[in-house]
Amino acid sequence: MTTKKDGDLMPLRNEISHVITKPSWDTYKSQALNNKRKHVETNKEYEMLFSPSFCFLVLKALWRIIDSKKQFELRSCKYKRMQLDLESNKLAKEIAGFLSTLSIIECSYYIGVLYTYLLPQKYKAEYGIYYTPPVIAERLLDLLGSEGVNWSKDSILDPACGGGAFLVPVANRILGDHRIKCIPAEERIRHLENHLSGIEIDEFAGWLTQVMLDVVTYQDACLIGRKMKNVVRHDDTIKYALKQNKSYQLIVGNPPYGRVTLNEELREAYSRSLYGHANMYGLFIDAALRMKSAEGFIGFVTPTSFMGGQYFSNLRNLLMQEAPPLDIDFITERSGVFDEVLQETCLTVFGPNDSKETSIHNIKTDTVGYRVNRVGTFQINEGTSPWFLPRDSSETKLIKKLNKMKTTLKDYGYKVSTGPLVWNRHKEQLDNVPQVGSFPIIWSHSIINGNFTFDYKNKKPKFINIQDEQDFLVCKQPVVLLQRTTSKEQQRRLISTVLPQDFLSEWDGAVIENHVNMIHSVDKQLLSPEALSLILSTTIVDRIFRCISGSVAVSASELHALPLPPLKKVLSIEDFIQQHNSNQISDEDLSRCVEQIVLKAYNLGG
Ligand SMILES: C[S@@+](CC[C@H](N)C(=O)[O-])C[C@H]1O[C@@H](n2cnc3c(N)ncnc32)[C@H](O)[C@@H]1O
Repeated sequence: MTTKKDGDLMPLRNEISHVITKPSWDTYKSQALNNKRKHVETNKEYEMLFSPSFCFLVLKALWRIIDSKKQFELRSCKYKRMQLDLESNKLAKEIAGFLSTLSIIECSYYIGVLYTYLLPQKYKAEYGIYYTPPVIAERLLDLLGSEGVNWSKDSILDPACGGGAFLVPVANRILGDHRIKCIPAEERIRHLENHLSGIEIDEFAGWLTQVMLDVVTYQDACLIGRKMKNVVRHDDTIKYALKQNKSYQLIVGNPPYGRVTLNEELREAYSRSLYGHANMYGLFIDAALRMKSAEGFIGFVTPTSFMGGQYFSNLRNLLMQEAPPLDIDFITERSGVFDEVLQETCLTVFGPNDSKETSIHNIKTDTVGYRVNRVGTFQINEGTSPWFLPRDSSETKLIKKLNKMKTTLKDYGYKVSTGPLVWNRHKEQLDNVPQVGSFPIIWSHSIINGNFTFDYKNKKPKFINIQDEQDFLVCKQPVVLLQRTTSKEQQRRLISTVLPQDFLSEWDGAVIENHVNMIHSVDKQLLSPEALSLILSTTIVDRIFRCISGSVAVSASELHALPLPPLKKVLSIEDFIQQHNSNQISDEDLSRCVEQIVLKAYNLGG
């Protein structure tokens, strides 16, 4: 196993010695895509069939290169395929030649990349098919090794094994372990057969994994005269976890993600970890908890939304009871790491952890290595509340301080709800001009750099005619408006303004659309909405919010959990607002004063 020092750029394990030169690989990919287009023009059915058919040809050619002594046939593939033209056959051979110059781990990854690249987008999205780059898989396996996974003894399952991004390097580690190296080849193969398992819903991907395992075990297979038995099961893990009773010391992988609708039976079976919408990767974490042994580990690559999102609140509670996180790596540079994946990603090791302390690292990756920076060790609260974790070592002190601060929006007398207007349910009531009985619609475009505007240029209708018994849609009091989704390009995650009293008086109320959070005072107003909006617009509060949520979405539950400075320490902001309203200080002066007051109120200087 590789050793690492904080801040060191890690080369990959020795086996991964070749660096892919992007241009040639990209050329192969685009040539294959052109061939796909030509085939799909002749028959729409080829949209789905081209990728497995083409990758089968690549693997057939690759197997010929590896098995030059013609000892074994390529493992049979039952997946339906189509006949491809001569040009595709030629290209497949060229690609196989290129792949044969790479290490086995890179080779398996690049076949996977090619396979997913040629699949229809819709199919990829439905099953969450995005394969893990070797650098990420190696880092997660290093973390698992350092937590005590024993490659020579433990039984290991990848419940969403794709093209083998984890099973191939795991097999490599098992075979490289000195205790396994010294046993006879027959026992070695049997050891793998008994200790390595994969599950995959995509039958062709499962076959890909098994062929790559045949490549890893090729020398032993030659010695004993047989290939290893198939260890990849074609199944739906979410269902399988409920009926199987084997337990594994390690469950490792990169589960699919995205919202799913479950039938009643599955919803009931997974109810312990669900709250509202189910997400595939949350279900996979629950499934992994069911399949791991009492002292076993889970090592997963996932989005970070489970740490803060309300839909994951019951899952957080379950994890803290059964397998609190031991290690979390936040991946801060995603470009070029996961093709097409936009969410903030993390690697987490869950397992036996009585202290409930988590060691956090931030890793920066590129195609050949990763740079590890230690962030610190943090205690995670039990229960359903969001996990408040720093992404960077500069936030360590901040988080420790904030964990002791108990003031939240509730103490300011405010509550968050989402704008009640789901516009497509009221299509016939929408209008571009005001009518008697209509109200202006507040879209997220109304919130611009801390200011409110009703003069936005989006093409959405500006008014809604309110009918009887729809008064609940109308907001009559000034509230803080805060965008519910931001884009990654936006510098701030918290983008807010106040729905002004003047505007409400002019229109007798307004209707707030569902992409806007509205923060309204619930009882006696202890702080003005203007002051609250200014506090939420400070750099420090935005930074703190990012420690709860890595997602571009800003949910009510995360806002409720946000630690705020004590109320009495921020009341002086009201005086500055008055001075600003009477033109004594400029916009810039006001924001500067608020930044300083808030920093000081958090006890962070200023
Ligand atoms: C994000 S990919 C990761 C694949 C592979 N583990 C890797 O890291 O490269 C998720 C995989 O889960 C598979 N999958 C989706 N739903 C599944 C299910 N219900 N049961 C088993 N596998 C599933 C997809 O086909 C896809 O190969």
